[in-house]
Amino acid sequence: MEGIKVNQIGVSFKGIGSYVPDQVLTNQKISQKVDTSDEWIKSRTGISERRISRLEDNVTEMGYEAALNAIEMANWDIKTIDLIVLATSTPNDLFGSAPSIQAKLGAYNAVAFDLTAACSGFLFALITATQFLKGGSFKRAIVIGADQLSSFVDWNDRRSCILFGDGAGALAVEATNEFDNFIGFDMRTDGERGSFLNLPSTNNKDSIIDNIDFLSGGFSPIQMNGQEVYKFAVREVPIILEKLFRNTNYSSDEVDWLVLHQANQRILDSVGDRLKIPREKILSNLEKYGNTSAATIPLMMDEAIRNNRIKHNDIIATSGFGAGLSWGAALIKWG
Ligand code: ACO
Repeated sequence: MEGIKVNQIGVSFKGIGSYVPDQVLTNQKISQKVDTSDEWIKSRTGISERRISRLEDNVTEMGYEAALNAIEMANWDIKTIDLIVLATSTPNDLFGSAPSIQAKLGAYNAVAFDLTAACSGFLFALITATQFLKGGSFKRAIVIGADQLSSFVDWNDRRSCILFGDGAGALAVEATNEFDNFIGFDMRTDGERGSFLNLPSTNNKDSIIDNIDFLSGGFSPIQMNGQEVYKFAVREVPIILEKLFRNTNYSSDEVDWLVLHQANQRILDSVGDRLKIPREKILSNLEKYGNTSAATIPLMMDEAIRNNRIKHNDIIATSGFGAGLSWGAALIKWG
């Protein structure tokens, strides 16, 4: 896709969609595998169940379904899409899964690429796409967050396996020269604290021929220091949101909905308390899906928009945070 370069002042949000696999893994079923209980998981995280991909599901299939739903809501001709950004840490092709979604959609005029920032991925992808749109290079973008962490969880590690599930969400965003519904954003990373949460490569030494060694590819399961990730989230997320409110001249009172990365109900409640945002404005669906990584924010927004909780012109404060460490925030007006 060749950039068109016309001056656009902003973006509007035209459609949203999501997809989750139909296979449900309840806390009770996990307790048949590791030493845990529904009561422990629910009280520490708020999660009751999560979805696990079937053999035929993968990030391309889930991302495609979510994108299709968003495009249907936007009522777009698929050939008018210029850009597809897929946030994922679990592509089914390490060279990138976004082009396979482009092909499945038949979005032949779009350029499609992957972006990796773990649980901050959707937010980073949304910020990336809006910069292309506001810069005037592209007119219509689909931003997808999709992850299949079930393939990389250590299902014998009770400290981490209880948290994660699979899913996808997508947002249809359009450039406009009339107004701007992407009010502001901020984004941060801190690689110094990266060891708190990793999905590292395995680096097994092998030989091609005598004296020529190489590292064979592969990945170890997720390694997580839960307490440090928890402390990071409850400290940094309120700070970045407060800074965003200051920079955009908004106050937390003006926020209709707080849509945080769905990691742990205690993190959502703690951030809401710090920002003095009442519980009824804090959207949560992690009871049903757990932490779906890059998918949580659009999955949550899709549910709230389709059941008419989030309405046209509502102000949404959103924040993604996770491995990297990475975190970010955006203030948007729906519609
Ligand atoms: N069932 C029963 N007991 C458990 C379980 C379990 N599933 N997991 C841990 N325990 C035990 C521990 O062994 C420990 O026992 P001990 O005191 O005898 O040693 C005790 O429970 C307390 O363990 P903690 O780790 O202190 O438990 P905590 O209250 O911190 O909760 C949790 C753990 C839920 C993981 C929490 O720390 C958390 O949610 N952290 C954030 C993690 C997160 O969100 N990660 C994803 C980030 S997003 C991304 O980028 C992918």
